[in-house]
Amino acid sequence: MTICSTAKNISTDKPAMFRKKVLDWYDVHRRVLPWRALEGEQPDPYRVWLSEVMLQQTTVQAVIRYFLKFTEKWPNVHALAKADNDDVMSNWAGLGYYARARNLHKCAKIISNDYDGVFPADQVALQKLPGIGDYTSAAITSIAFDKPANVVDGNVERVMARYHACKIAVPEGKKALKEYAALYADGFTKRTGDYAQALMDLGATICTPKSPACSLCPLNGNCVGYRQGTPEIYPLRAPKKERPKRYGYVYHVTNKQGDVLIHKRPEKGLLGGMYGFPTSEWLEDEGGLEHLELLGDRERWIKNDVSITHIFTHFHLTLVLFSCVISDKGNISSEYEWIDKVGLQKLGMPTAFKKALKFFG
Ligand code: ADE
Repeated sequence: MTICSTAKNISTDKPAMFRKKVLDWYDVHRRVLPWRALEGEQPDPYRVWLSEVMLQQTTVQAVIRYFLKFTEKWPNVHALAKADNDDVMSNWAGLGYYARARNLHKCAKIISNDYDGVFPADQVALQKLPGIGDYTSAAITSIAFDKPANVVDGNVERVMARYHACKIAVPEGKKALKEYAALYADGFTKRTGDYAQALMDLGATICTPKSPACSLCPLNGNCVGYRQGTPEIYPLRAPKKERPKRYGYVYHVTNKQGDVLIHKRPEKGLLGGMYGFPTSEWLEDEGGLEHLELLGDRERWIKNDVSITHIFTHFHLTLVLFSCVISDKGNISSEYEWIDKVGLQKLGMPTAFKKALKFFG
């Protein structure tokens, strides 16, 4: 079995043996997670779908609190479909990648209205739904319906990269890692959900990114990376490009009553549909920044000598904080709203704006 391994004299397990080792380990060490069915329980596709959307690009640790909050507020897909979109978005605040929340709500409405609340059980149908791509459809198919699918997340990639000592660096190497994973997934019909979750748990608790606990790993006898003595170097990574920088101004605008002006961001684009403070444009050239004009030139911006920084996937943002008091008599466009201080503290805002809120108080 060599897709990209350069290992000599180290043979990997046959797929059936590999799965058996992984599943035997899982039967003893499986994590208890709020979206996971207990042994002998039937998984709830709604909870599986919700958790998998939340877990896209987000850690288990960060997701647990949000998952519990969502399922308490909206225990099934019909309840979520009927929710107010602003309520869904503000409850998602802090989890990031806000397009996921928009698509989650759209998907809930489709499942509730067009599918009678029943999630389809095959990958092709699932992928037609908003926010469900290759990974999520595979995860739902296997975990919720116990059907075959090749479920490959970052954990699985790491296990495959080490087990086979894959020499192709990611991101290019992702294709090879998926092919490796397919060796152990394709054609197997039993315990497919357990197997998918077992590999994730193995990646998260034993085959960890740093200092893997190889002595406890059920696969160590035939893991090429381990046998070579350097499992932690896998997956090899192409050198990272530096994140571009962007700069902007963020504004704390109050009126005479002490209400604060907030901005509902356009549905499309970064942090789309979320509430935040008003900001200028965000530019790569700090020198080109111009102040936001809310009321023509009537606002008097006071610089706070404080800036916040936030890292987005594709850039690093620095926002300088400004304040001003204005009369709310002017013609402020309808994407802005006044909110009182109590409401502001309760409002779900993305983390970048929460950082500004800490200073604005
Ligand atoms: N990461 C993504 N999906 C997961 C799941 N179902 N269990 C644990 N970790 C995960």
